[in-house]
Amino acid sequence: MCGIIGYVGYKEASSIILNGLRRMEYRGYDSAGIACLNRGKLEIKKEVGKIDDIQENLQFDKLRGMSGVGHTRWATHGKVTKNNAHPHLSCQSGIAVVHNGVIENYQVLRKCLVEEGHTFRSETDTEVISHILEKNYLIEEDEEKAILRTVKQLKGTFAFLAIWNKNSDTIFGARKDAPLIIGAGSKETFLASDVLAFIDHTDQVVFLDNMEIVTVTRNGYKVNTFDGTPVKKDPVKVSWEVGDASKQGFTHYTLKEIYDQPETIKSALNQDEEKLLVITNIIRQANKVFITGSGTSFHAALLMKYLLAKYSKIHAEAVISSEFDQYTDLVDSDTVVLAISQSGETADILSVVSKVKDRGSKVCSIVNAVGSSLVRESYESLYINCGPEIGVAATKSFTGQLAIGYLLVSNLSEEFPRIDHKSIEEFVKEALLVEDKVKSLESLYGEKDVYFIGRGIHHPIALEGALKLKELAYIHAEGMAAGELKHGTLALVDAGTPAVVINPHDETYSETLGNAAEMKARGARIIGVSNEPNELYDDFIKIPQIDKRLYPIIEVIPLQILSYYAAIYQHRNPDFPRNLAKSVTVK
Ligand code: M6R
Repeated sequence: MCGIIGYVGYKEASSIILNGLRRMEYRGYDSAGIACLNRGKLEIKKEVGKIDDIQENLQFDKLRGMSGVGHTRWATHGKVTKNNAHPHLSCQSGIAVVHNGVIENYQVLRKCLVEEGHTFRSETDTEVISHILEKNYLIEEDEEKAILRTVKQLKGTFAFLAIWNKNSDTIFGARKDAPLIIGAGSKETFLASDVLAFIDHTDQVVFLDNMEIVTVTRNGYKVNTFDGTPVKKDPVKVSWEVGDASKQGFTHYTLKEIYDQPETIKSALNQDEEKLLVITNIIRQANKVFITGSGTSFHAALLMKYLLAKYSKIHAEAVISSEFDQYTDLVDSDTVVLAISQSGETADILSVVSKVKDRGSKVCSIVNAVGSSLVRESYESLYINCGPEIGVAATKSFTGQLAIGYLLVSNLSEEFPRIDHKSIEEFVKEALLVEDKVKSLESLYGEKDVYFIGRGIHHPIALEGALKLKELAYIHAEGMAAGELKHGTLALVDAGTPAVVINPHDETYSETLGNAAEMKARGARIIGVSNEPNELYDDFIKIPQIDKRLYPIIEVIPLQILSYYAAIYQHRNPDFPRNLAKSVTVK
C-alpha cells in the first residue's frame, strides 16, 4: 500500500529513485512522484498513472540533485489526482514528504493548521505531515527535533520520509506500523518500504523497528526512538538477488512466478529443522490453536486446519484476520496463533498479533518477506523462501505456505511422510504442462460468473481458484464446498453455467462427481480438474497422480494459469489488477 524511497549519495538521485519505484510498483500504482533537491531548491514531478507512462511524459530522470524522495501511490484519502500524488510540500515549499500509511487524526490536525494559516494543496491525509513539520521546525530549528515533535502528534500508521531544502545531504524518516528499511551502501544510503527498491545497489540492510526515527546521509545513518533515545543497529546482509525481481524473459511477473514453483516449493520445504521443531512443540502443547491470514494466505490457513484435523487429530480454528476480533476473548497464554502472510505487513494480521500477544498468546508465523513486521512480532517464524513475489496475485507464496503447512502437519502426525523434494518438483513441473490446454479454454474467459467446487482439502483450493479469477480477470467467481451447492447456489445454475470441479481421485471423489452431475443435469458446463478423466466433464484439465494428501499443492497450479490467461484474454494487466495492491497495510 504505497511505496516510498529516499536516496542520498554521489549519483543523480532521480534515476535511482525511479528504478526503486518501478520495483515497488506492486505496492500501489495509481500515481507516482519524485522530489529532488537541486541547489537548495526542491523540484517535484508527479502525475497520475503507471510509472513508466509518467516517465515517458514527464521524464522523472531529468530531475537533478544527489538526494531525493519518491512515492508510488495506492489511494486511501483523496481521489487519484495529480494534486493528491506525493510528494507533498509544506507551505513555503521547504519540505517535501512521502508517506505510506494512514494518518487517522488528519482532519483535526488539518483544521488546526488551516486556522493557523497553512494552505493545503491536496485532499490527502499525508499533507498534514509536511505542514506540521514546517510548524515544528520553526519552533525547534532542528530537523530531528521537529520530527520527534511531529510523530507524537500523529495518530495512525506511517512510514514517512522528509527532505528539507536547507539540508542537501540528509533525509529523515520515521516509522510506526508500516515498514521502513535502510540500505547502507558505500557513500550512498537508501530508505525504502522494501529491500527490492535498492537491492541493485546494496544488500546491507537495517530494518527499522516501530516508533523509530532515522536520519541518513551518504556516509551512514542514525536511529533514535520516538523518545529521542539513540539505538545502535548494525546492517544485516539480505540474500535476494537482483534477478529474483526481474521477469526473466516472461511477459509478466505473474507468469514467471507461476513457473518458479517447482523451485520455490522446494525452497519452502528446506526449513531450519530447529525452528520447525520449536513451532511443532508449541502447537502440540497448546490448548487452543488458531490459524489466521487474509485472502490467499487465509486459504492456506484453512487447508492447514483441515490437514491438522484429519491427519494430526488437532483441532485448530482458521480465522480470517479481519474477523479475528470475534475470537480474541478466547485467546490466553495456552493458545498459539499461527499467522500466515506473504508480506508480513498486512494490517489485519498485525492487528491480530498485537491483540493476542497482549492476552499472553504465543504467535508463530509463516512469512515470505525477510525482516517484515510480522517476523519481528512473532515468537518464532518460518520463511517461505520463495524470493520476491511482485505480481499482486499470490501464486508461488501460496504453494510455499502450503508446503510449510505440510511440514508442520507431518511433524505433528504419526504417519504422515515428509514431502519428498525431488518428486514434488517433478509433479509441479508436470502440472505446469497444462498451459496449452488451459489456453484453449478461451470460451470460458468471456463468462460473467464461474463456480469452483471442491470437498475437504479441495475446498480451500476452490476458494483460491475463485479469488484468482476475480482478482486477475475481473470475472465474478464463487468458490464453495461442493456439498453446499444443493443448499442454495444450485438455483443459479442453468444452460452453460461454467463450473470448475476440483476432483482428484481420493475419498471425496465420488461425492464431488455427484455434485458435478447435479450441475450438469441443469445444463452446466463442467471443467474437471483431476488425475482421471470422466465423461461428465465437458473440459478436462489433467493433473499428475500423486499421494492423495498432496493434491492441493498441485491442483491450484492449473487454476493460477487459467486466471492468468483469462486476464490476458480480457486485455487486463495480470501483474497489477485494478484497485488492488500487494501489501495491504490499511485495515
Ligand atoms: O501479504 P499477505 O499474504 O498477508 O496478503 C494477504 C492478502 O492481501 C493477499 O493474499 C491477497 O488476497 C492476494 N492479492 C491474493 O492473490
